[in-house]
Amino acid sequence: MLVTFEGIEGSGKSTAANLLAEYLLDREVDLLLTKEPGGCSLGRGLRHTLLDARGKNLSSRAELFLFLADRAQHVTEVIRPALESGQIVLCDRYADSTLAYQGYGRGLDTEFLRRLNETATGGLAPDITLLLDVPVPCGLARAGQRNRETGTAISEGRFDSESLAFHERVREGYRALAQEEPARFAVIDASQPVEDVALQCLSAVEKALRRNGALWASP
Ligand code: TYD
Repeated sequence: MLVTFEGIEGSGKSTAANLLAEYLLDREVDLLLTKEPGGCSLGRGLRHTLLDARGKNLSSRAELFLFLADRAQHVTEVIRPALESGQIVLCDRYADSTLAYQGYGRGLDTEFLRRLNETATGGLAPDITLLLDVPVPCGLARAGQRNRETGTAISEGRFDSESLAFHERVREGYRALAQEEPARFAVIDASQPVEDVALQCLSAVEKALRRNGALWASP
């Protein structure tokens, strides 16, 4: 089963994904936690190119194809083999990020992007997508603080430094995607404390596991 985490900068996806992984590991679920961009060897180099705030002249289309290249390799090298070996895969960002950021954010045609995602993933869609929804000012404030603490404002700050309007379009894009596919998306209010967010992620994933008949032993 493929579980993806989506949301704007500072929505707390990575923290929630880590906590969810801990809960599931406590229940002896065999899982793999991974992310995009940068979840495979090719992607780690691409991540640097994509996120460095000094890379101002990267065009929207070049950016798009780098994210897609990362995804294609990530699916082939990491995600599919894990799913085939029976692991549950938790992925921090996936194809919906391209629709939200390159589509709604940058203004590229979303139908075209869907076809490109389909090619990049070989048709592998998430079973459940947890959308961590947070107002933009709140998310950007958290992301800014994290970047200052980790010293990554320059090396990973290219998207964080986009305009407020860009991030509003991304957030609205995500909400529109969730409305189009309510069976796949669980929308979680990520302005709550992170423990609560992680618990809601857990309950959404448990529901999906039950639906898929893949239950684990009680803790
Ligand atoms: P990351 O440091 O992983 O940010 P976060 O902690 O917010 O997930 O950076 C990934 C950035 O790349 C993020 O700003 C969203 C962007 N992105 C896209 O624009 N398109 C994509 O397809 C993906 C996977 C990410």
